Amino acid sequence: MAEAAENLAVGPNHPLEALTADEVAEASALAKAELGERAAFCSVALVEPPKADLKSFGNGDPVPRKVRFLGYDYAGGDGGFDATVDLVSRRVEMARITHGQAPIGFADVVAAVRITKEDPAWQAAMRRRGIDDFELVQIDPWPAGGYQHPSIPPGHRAHRAISFVRETKTDNGYARPVQGLIAHVDLDAGRVAHLEDHGDVPLPPEHGRYDAASQPRLREAPKPLEITQPEGVSFTIDGNLIAWQGWQFRVTMHPINGLVLHQLRYDDGDEVRSILHRAALSDMVVPYGDTDPMHAWKHVLDAGEACIGNCANSLKLGCDCLGEIRYLDHVAVKPDGSPRLIEQAICIHEEDYGILWKHHDGHGQTTEVRRSRRLVVSSFHTVGNYEYGFYWYLYLDGRIQMEVKLTGIVGVSAVDDGTSRPEYAPLIAPNLASPIHQHLFCFRLDCEIDGETNSVYEVDTVPAPVDGDNPDGTAFRAEARLLATEHDARRQVDASRSRSWKIVNPERKNRLGVPVGYRLVPEGTPALMAAAGSQVAKRAGFAQHNLWVTPCEEDRLSAAGDHPNLGPGDGLPFWTEGNRSVDATDIVVWHTVGSTHVPRPEDWPVMPVEYCGFTLKPVGFFDRNPALDLPPADHCATTGTS
Ligand code: NI
Repeated sequence: MAEAAENLAVGPNHPLEALTADEVAEASALAKAELGERAAFCSVALVEPPKADLKSFGNGDPVPRKVRFLGYDYAGGDGGFDATVDLVSRRVEMARITHGQAPIGFADVVAAVRITKEDPAWQAAMRRRGIDDFELVQIDPWPAGGYQHPSIPPGHRAHRAISFVRETKTDNGYARPVQGLIAHVDLDAGRVAHLEDHGDVPLPPEHGRYDAASQPRLREAPKPLEITQPEGVSFTIDGNLIAWQGWQFRVTMHPINGLVLHQLRYDDGDEVRSILHRAALSDMVVPYGDTDPMHAWKHVLDAGEACIGNCANSLKLGCDCLGEIRYLDHVAVKPDGSPRLIEQAICIHEEDYGILWKHHDGHGQTTEVRRSRRLVVSSFHTVGNYEYGFYWYLYLDGRIQMEVKLTGIVGVSAVDDGTSRPEYAPLIAPNLASPIHQHLFCFRLDCEIDGETNSVYEVDTVPAPVDGDNPDGTAFRAEARLLATEHDARRQVDASRSRSWKIVNPERKNRLGVPVGYRLVPEGTPALMAAAGSQVAKRAGFAQHNLWVTPCEEDRLSAAGDHPNLGPGDGLPFWTEGNRSVDATDIVVWHTVGSTHVPRPEDWPVMPVEYCGFTLKPVGFFDRNPALDLPPADHCATTGTS
């Protein structure tokens, strides 16, 4: 009986609930009826209803449900299809992609590997290098974005395939890169259009296996550390609506934006206050700085081109998060349009985070201490050789943090003895170098600090002039400057001035008469190193600045535009050309953060996690420390709890 009840189609209760497998199957069947046999689906996303509709939505209202598919069908040399299916009216809006291409799909990758391995010229080049067991060759297809070979007609889907040699099927291929050989694959024509061969370099001598069985010895393991919550977790999950310690929000997984927080609000006791309407990655880029022809062209947009959301790991192994864990599944799409269930793709749990606040009063001989705890919403994504973890943290004092965790395996080159160029590609193992590169993530923060009317100020801390007020030169001050237009708001981080950006609601004051706000506290990451005229600067223009502010445009979710794959460039630099006002209006703050990675021997053969991200800290949003009301744990207060 229970099983029968589960099989009945139960519709979603809220427009932001995640798509179910049944919905994806139903929508793709409707889309397929209008597409040809060669249609390959690359991504599926819930079309999020406009803000106004979400705000007026009430329990029991009809739930709008639209599903968007991107894919290609080699029909007519354009960029593929961009189909929106309305599950309520069962209507299909079928648009063609004319600027760029549908993102890279699983079918592209499989085809690029097969086409490369079947190519006689590639086979001959491998044999000349002494490699003839092609079964053990690993092919990594890279986006050709910006550098499509002239022998591949514009509009064709294209990859650059590079090769690695494995000793066994489970070996780490990155230990043995086939240096100097790049196959330019024309996926429309189904052939290698051009084979670039820069000459032979021997394979590096050592393997790069990182599994326990391959290590010469294992250290004594630390003693077990168990996290238990005997009374259960402190958060609730209803569908994808999560509530914890005043916080409430929804979470979904988007193919390009990854983990998305929706309608993030804080219940401060008197009212439920809005902070962010939508917060997520908008796109990212990994530009390589090496001049080596194996790498100089690489600048993969892992979100927009490779659909990072589709690359979400199933966390069923249970080792990514520790303690009392709850999970949400994610439904992606297979090339044939059928749903692909990623079980336990989103992890939700609580973490102890040391001290929240403390004071010992020497006069009264009292001590008050509270422990910090954070709610963690996270996912992990494997994109080729690299892993990215995205961690949203919510704290008891109103802070919001995004932490990106970077791990996996670095890019590599084989080098002959005595030919390494450590300024571009330091040696990480004998005859194995790793090119310098950046990982730049642009987060889109649709701000709603106590409502939609928001403004952004840049706050620099600077020395005050030495004068009559400041005779000894000890004074320094915080200077706030309104970023009134889109061009004013293209900004870089400046650690020498403790630079931060303050998002305020000028219409809402705290009890001190000051506009309520949140401070965006950046880390010290430079923006894009590549020249302004370079392909990467054109195609991932968002990476040129750490901060952008635009008026809110709800359909512009991805900082490099909707279809960056093989596209000439789109997104923030183009959208902000008109230099619109961003003062006291509904704004989106775009923040580019990242890591400039000069590889180390310690990054090989698998990289210990690197971190980057940002914090949003309440600044006058609350009238005082909002965590004063946190009851002390047993024995953590000497002044009593009454
Ligand atoms: Ni890196």
